[in-house]
Amino acid sequence: MKIELNDNKVYFNNGSLKKEIHPFWLRERVDGEEFLDKGTQQRLFDPTSLDNEICINKVNIKEEYLEIDFNDGVKSKIDINKLAVEYYNEDIVIKSIPKIKWDSTLKEVKNFKYKDNFFESEEMHDLLVSFYKYGFVIIKNIPTDNNFIVKFANSIGSVRRTNFGEFFNVKSKSDPNDLAYTSLGLAPHTDNPYRNPVPCIQLLHCIESEVSGGLSTLVDGYTVTEDLKSENPNFYKILSEVKVRFKFIDKDVVLEDWSELIKLNDDKTFKQVRFSPRLDYVPMLDKEKLDLYYKARKKLSKMYNSDKYRIEFKLVPKDLMMMDNYRLLHGRTAYEAKEGNRFLQGCYIDYDSTEGKLRHLKRKFNL
Ligand SMILES: [Fe+2]
Repeated sequence: MKIELNDNKVYFNNGSLKKEIHPFWLRERVDGEEFLDKGTQQRLFDPTSLDNEICINKVNIKEEYLEIDFNDGVKSKIDINKLAVEYYNEDIVIKSIPKIKWDSTLKEVKNFKYKDNFFESEEMHDLLVSFYKYGFVIIKNIPTDNNFIVKFANSIGSVRRTNFGEFFNVKSKSDPNDLAYTSLGLAPHTDNPYRNPVPCIQLLHCIESEVSGGLSTLVDGYTVTEDLKSENPNFYKILSEVKVRFKFIDKDVVLEDWSELIKLNDDKTFKQVRFSPRLDYVPMLDKEKLDLYYKARKKLSKMYNSDKYRIEFKLVPKDLMMMDNYRLLHGRTAYEAKEGNRFLQGCYIDYDSTEGKLRHLKRKFNL
């Protein structure tokens, strides 16, 4: 992008397009120390209190800076490189990491190993990049004492507390309020589809594993979605258009949220899958539409439950798995509780935690 000047007006030129930059837009970005707090990068003035008729009395380009005198008496130097970043107006940190589609043929993904000062290390940066590529990551050697999972979560960002508590213990127990707390196998599902917003990321930490079963299973909802889109576009269309009701009832709470099973961004790219077929209720649509919907849902379920897409592996004590609850489905194989203990601890964090940490580490290591 090139900045050009003409008659006290500032233009950007990206090679194919030349446009004037609004003088007020530039005035909002003055960054002298009386206008911008250097530490927080927050404004020290309220732009909504400025006169809308701001214009430029004088402007020059000096090296990498625009030197501007505005008609309200403010003089400022504005870094041209910063304007270029704003022009592209994209979160390049997360969007620059391409999602890698995977299925049961996925070769071993790099594991990470916890050590001192892990959270502020370049390795943590690499871990987060790997997480965004594959939708999950496994970290070995995580201490298992004192609910360390909470410390782990809070060292990336903040724990997302739910009605299951700050963290939850996954082991079979009597009178469970969720099938997770039994020794039954769990088909691939996403967690908390009835919550608004749905927790973004689940952490699962293996504390004890003395049973031969109880393997962890993962399915990439992104891969399944993309395959469904190319193989059965009608199914993809209806599943990404019809909102269904997810509901969870416990003694002291009733949670309910409506969403498509495949949720798309405004630009029709993949955003999120929700799948928990014991909890979803489709509205009373026209019979023909429901005919298609039920066929589509059955096909989706078949894909999610197919060997083609599922990976299975055993978490061993001190392993911590971090998985994207918007992208992946997770489950487990059944186990025999009499064989011994199987004990996992889980908690949730949201994307602001991982994104905030990733941007911080990129800044810190100049990556
Ligand atoms: Fe779950």
